[in-house]
Amino acid sequence: MVKNVAVIGAGISGLAAIKSCLEEGLEPTCFERSDDIGGLWRFTDNSEDGRASIYNSLVTNVSKEIMCLSDFPMPEDFPNFLPHHKYFEYCRMYAEHFKLLKYIRFKTEVCNVQRKSDFSVTGQWVIETKTNGKTETTIFDAVMICTGQHEQPVFPLDSFSGIKKFKGQILHCRQYKRPVGFDGKQVLIVGMGNTGVDIATDLCTKAAKVYLSTRTGVWVLRRLGQDGYPWDLSFITRFRSWIRNTAPPSIARWLLKKYMNDQFDHSFYGIQPEGIVWKEPLVNEELPSRLLSGTIVIKPEVKEFTETSVCFEDGTRVDNLDVVIFATGYQFSFPFLEESVIKVDDSKGFLYKRVIPVGLQKPTLAVIGLVLPIGPIMVLSELQCRWATRLFKGLIKMPSAQEKSQDLARDEKLRDKWFATSKDNSRRTDYTLYLDDLALQIGVKPNIFKLFLTDPVLATKVLFGPCNSYQYRLTGPGKWPGAREAIVTQWKRIKKPLLTRVVKDDPHFPLTLHVLWFFWFVVLLGAIWIMT
Ligand SMILES: Cc1cc2nc3c(=O)[nH]c(=O)nc-3n(C[C@H](O)[C@H](O)[C@H](O)COP(=O)(O)OP(=O)(O)OC[C@H]3O[C@@H](n4cnc5c(N)ncnc54)[C@H](O)[C@@H]3O)c2cc1C
Ligand SMILES: *[C@@H]1O[C@H](CO)[C@@H](O)[C@H](O)[C@H]1NC(C)=O
Repeated sequence: MVKNVAVIGAGISGLAAIKSCLEEGLEPTCFERSDDIGGLWRFTDNSEDGRASIYNSLVTNVSKEIMCLSDFPMPEDFPNFLPHHKYFEYCRMYAEHFKLLKYIRFKTEVCNVQRKSDFSVTGQWVIETKTNGKTETTIFDAVMICTGQHEQPVFPLDSFSGIKKFKGQILHCRQYKRPVGFDGKQVLIVGMGNTGVDIATDLCTKAAKVYLSTRTGVWVLRRLGQDGYPWDLSFITRFRSWIRNTAPPSIARWLLKKYMNDQFDHSFYGIQPEGIVWKEPLVNEELPSRLLSGTIVIKPEVKEFTETSVCFEDGTRVDNLDVVIFATGYQFSFPFLEESVIKVDDSKGFLYKRVIPVGLQKPTLAVIGLVLPIGPIMVLSELQCRWATRLFKGLIKMPSAQEKSQDLARDEKLRDKWFATSKDNSRRTDYTLYLDDLALQIGVKPNIFKLFLTDPVLATKVLFGPCNSYQYRLTGPGKWPGAREAIVTQWKRIKKPLLTRVVKDDPHFPLTLHVLWFFWFVVLLGAIWIMT
C-alpha cells in the first residue's frame, strides 16, 4: 500500500503533486532545493544554479482562464496574460489556499533516488537528501519528479565554427535578464524559439540592430486572437481539436497554416517554416511590426564567426557584431537517478502516458510536467498528478506490456502527423487529446453527449468554449462543486481586467443592419434568378 510520497521540486508541478496526494489521502513530503516555491516563475536578478531562469519582460503566452489549475480560478482582476510576478503570485495563492507549504522542506536537495533492495516486491525508494550540507536518507513508497525541463542550457558552442575567435560578448539566453548594457550595439540572436524572439523584441528598442538567425523558420501566434480576444480562447477548444484530429492530415495542416497566415503573411516576413509538416508555433505579437520597422532582421543559419563578424549560410555577413545570444534552448536529465530507472530516448517515447518510466517493474515513480503541448504545461502537470496518485493507489491499472507498446506507438504516429519537424520530439503532444486520455482513465472526462441532454448551456460552453481545466472537475473522483459555475462565469473574468473605462456605445452589429443584409441577399438571389 502506497502511503508516503516524495515530491521533488516545488514549482507549480510540485505544488499540484502535493495537492493531488492530499486529495487521495496520501502523505506527501516535498523537497525543494531553493528557499521558496514557484520554480521557474520566481524571478531573480541573477540566475541560480539548479533552477530555471527567466527574463524580466516575460509574460505568459497562454491566457489565465486556460492556464489556471482546475479548482482554483485566477482572481477576476488579474490580466489575461500574466507578467511573471503575477503568475508567481498565483502560485503563492494556490499554495496558501490549499495549505501546501507545511509539506515542503526548503533548501533541501534530492541527490540520490534508488530502488530499495526489495523493490520488486514493495516498489519502495531510498531517497538521499542534503540540507545545509547534512545528508539524510528516507524510505518512500512512491516518488513524483517535478524538477522541470528548462534548467540545463543547451550551449552548442563547438558546433559553430570560429566562435572561439569571436571577441565580442557571448551569452546564453538563461543569463539574459534585461535590455541593459545593449545600447547602440549590434546583437545576433541564434535560435528562434519563444525565448529568442522575446529577447529580440525586448532588446530592439535599445540595440542598434538585432539579427535573428533561424534554421527552419517559425509560425507566430499573436496573443491578440480573433476580435482581439486572447488567442487560446478560440484556438484551444474541444470543437477545434475535434476538427483538427478528424480532418485528413493535409487538410488539417492547411487549415492551421491558413489560420497563421490570416494573422499576417509569414512568407512576406521571411519566417515561414519549410516543409509540409506542421511546426509548433510560438507566441509573440511584436515581431512582425519590428520586422516592418527594420529594428529586427531575420537571417538564415549561421555559417561561421570571425573576430568581429558573422557569416550566414546564404553568403551574407554582418560586421561589427558586439553580442551573440544563444537562445538554443534547454535539455533535461535526472542527475539523481540511475540510468537504468529511466532510459531517456527523446526520439521515442520512454514514459508510459508520458509519466511512468517504461520497463520499471513497479509503477511507483512518476515524471510530472515533461511535456511540450501547444497549451499550458501546468494544466497537464496537474492532471498527470491526479492520474499518477490514483495509479499509485492501484485505482488505475497498468496495462500489459503489449498494450503499453501499442500506446507508445499510437503516440508516435500522432507526433509524426503534427510535429515531425525534429527527431527529438517525444515531449510534444496534442493538448486536448492528451488531457482527455488521462481524464478517461481517472474517470473525469466530461461526457458531452450526456451533458447536452442534461445541461445544454454547460455542454455548449464545454464543446465550443475554451477548453479549460475546470472541465475535469465536473464529475468523478475529485469533483469540485464550483466547476460548473467557473465555466459559466469565465467570460466575466476574462473581461473584468479591461473594464477600467466603461464604454456606453453598444459595439455590436445593430439589428437594422442585419435586416438590410437580409434584403440585399433576397435582391441578389432574385437578380440571379432573373438572369439565368
Ligand atoms: C522563458 C520561459 C517561459 C515560459 N512560459 C510559459 C508559459 O507562458 N506558459 C506555460 O504553460 N509554460 C511556460 N513555460 C514552461 C514552464 O516550464 C512551465 O510553465 C512551468 O513553470 C513548469 O513548472 P515545473 O514545476 O514543472 O518546473 P519548474 O518551475 O522549473 O520547477 C522545478 C523546481 O524543482 C526544483 N528542483 C530541481 N531539481 C531539484 C532537486 N534535485 N532537489 C530539489 N529540488 C529540485 C527547482 O529548484 C524548482 O523549484 C515557460 C518556460 C520558460 C523557460
Ligand atoms: C510558451 O513558452 C514556452 C517557453 O518558451 C514554450 O515552451 C511553450 O511552447 C510556449 N507555449 C505556446 C503555446 O507557444
